[in-house]
Amino acid sequence: MILDWKIVAEKIYNELKNEILPLEKKPKLWAILIWNNSSSIRYIKQKQKWAEYIWVDFELLTFDENISQISLLEEINKLNIDENISWFIIQLPLPKHINEQEIINSINPEKDVDWFHPINQWKIVIWDETWLKPCTPAWVIELCKFYNIDLIWKNIVIIWRSNIVWKPLANMLINMQATLTICNSKTKNIDFYTKNADIIITAMWSPEFLTTEKINKDTVVIDVWFSVIDWKIYWDCDFENIIQNWNKITPVPGWVWALTVAMLMKNTLKAYKK
Ligand code: GUN
Repeated sequence: MILDWKIVAEKIYNELKNEILPLEKKPKLWAILIWNNSSSIRYIKQKQKWAEYIWVDFELLTFDENISQISLLEEINKLNIDENISWFIIQLPLPKHINEQEIINSINPEKDVDWFHPINQWKIVIWDETWLKPCTPAWVIELCKFYNIDLIWKNIVIIWRSNIVWKPLANMLINMQATLTICNSKTKNIDFYTKNADIIITAMWSPEFLTTEKINKDTVVIDVWFSVIDWKIYWDCDFENIIQNWNKITPVPGWVWALTVAMLMKNTLKAYKK
């Protein structure tokens, strides 16, 4: 069975649109894009497209890929102090010469609808339902809710590599009283964990690492991210073979961006209402 994020994303966009349409003053989101990465450009275009679809004003600020750290910090500071700008995002990844964490740290946490700033990341540890949620972890939970996949009383295995998704997701699940095992590329006998998992959430960027031999038939597989090698997209799981065995699995390739963006728009509306 496919866990179709397209259906979930469409439902969220329609709900948001219905809420935003009657508003006299529409929410507005600003986005910074550095012209360095074709994937970021495609991603930001998705953000723009979906924002417009649900009547969120979207303003894109673009900068040359050679922008210096200092100039970028200055640009962010302008947005931080501008009273007309309520929320903004900075599309990642940034060029290699930029210290990405320093840039994230410089965002005014109150204007951070991506929920990347360390203060906001820390709030996920403390947890309060009324706060915004980081977008990718939020859709994993939303997708499970949509398909009635209970996250409590289950063995959940997270296989991770990056910071902005897995640590917040782990904290969000812990706050829901889920039982977690966190693995990575250096986990000894990783098969032991994956074979005993009820739910595997993976973003290892390791092409087709998760094969049918590594999981049991009832395991739910949520494959969050992909790697691109020689212009070809690979996911962590061997989708074609796993789906034959009737596991519940997210589709490959899919609308993963649409769902992350849906969560960003949900955050924008929530912040607007506050
Ligand atoms: N790059 C990859 N995912 C994201 C995201 O969720 N937000 C931003 N700003 N950049 C990203």
